[in-house]
Amino acid sequence: MGTFRAVKEGTSDSAARAPVLAVSSNKGGVGKTTLVANLAIYLRALREDLPVLVVGLDDQQVLDRMFALGPATPGDGNLKHGWAERTLERVIRVGEYGVHFVPSPADVSLLKGRAENPMTLRGLLDRTAWRGIVILDAKSDLEALTLNAFHAADRILVPIADWSSLEEAGKIFRILERSQVGRGRARVVFTLVDHRARATGGGTLLQALLEEVRSRRWPYYKTYLSRSPKVESLNSATSKPLSILHHARGTAVHGQMRELTHEVLQDLGMAPVARPMADEPSVLWGKRRLVAAPGSARPSTATGATELREFSRRR
Ligand SMILES: Nc1ncnc2c1ncn2[C@@H]1O[C@H](COP(=O)(O)OP(=O)(O)OP(=O)(O)O)[C@@H](O)[C@H]1O
Ligand SMILES: [Mg+2]
Repeated sequence: MGTFRAVKEGTSDSAARAPVLAVSSNKGGVGKTTLVANLAIYLRALREDLPVLVVGLDDQQVLDRMFALGPATPGDGNLKHGWAERTLERVIRVGEYGVHFVPSPADVSLLKGRAENPMTLRGLLDRTAWRGIVILDAKSDLEALTLNAFHAADRILVPIADWSSLEEAGKIFRILERSQVGRGRARVVFTLVDHRARATGGGTLLQALLEEVRSRRWPYYKTYLSRSPKVESLNSATSKPLSILHHARGTAVHGQMRELTHEVLQDLGMAPVARPMADEPSVLWGKRRLVAAPGSARPSTATGATELREFSRRR
């Protein structure tokens, strides 16, 4: 497990920077953007000291609508300008919930043409004086920008929601194995989990997917994200998607997002120290207490039955 040293202001030293996360699946609609946006918000809440920057590598502009504090003005740059300037500094904007974001261009095809070298984005982030975590929302493809995301990322979160997204995840693992990135940075995240969904063998779909992920020895996060009508409506009821943390605290997904964020931070060696109940932002977190962060967090790997028990307990 990699542990990240304390970040320094304005550094271009990659050893001292905060980590970069990428969320990627070649299958569309598995919850990538929902995970990116809400992970950013929960990270801000769990680590108030840590700035968070989200960068969308597709042209859907969902993240812009979610985080923009107001309409964009003509002088505002977007990722395309940052790419041309070889640093994101000018195009980073502060957004809702204290999350920073880089506006997405209306069309990413031009960017793809300038991303043939898979290290381009890594270099661009290294030249950007940003002292916080970065989360990249990759497009549903395995083309140049997505490969750039893989090379820039310290952790690549791969959502799996069903069998076809599991098979698509296999392509990501193969690409990582063949490249200098390696598969060790990838972490499966089970998304859109519906416990009513059954596998052909009789158990739940989640159990079947989990067994398959274990048999392929893919590292995965223990915390999965359930399918929730409330979350769906937060995303789709208005043009501006709303935060789970601020608008869906009564749902299971709220607790799961909090646990998953904690698990990601542990995996990165950046988990906050548990605080007494009185100090917790109970309005946001509800009554549950944070679990003390162990000294070293390990991602789940394909061994043992602990995770399955975890899964069944949380059902
Ligand atoms: N936990 C959830 N419960 C219910 N619906 C969800 C959940 N997460 C995401 N969705 C819905 O699933 C759909 C796809 O989600 P999202 O846009 O996050 O996926 P994506 O992988 O980014 O898609 P794309 O490939 O189009 O970029 C959206 O309608 C979203 O509202
Ligand atoms: Mg998306």
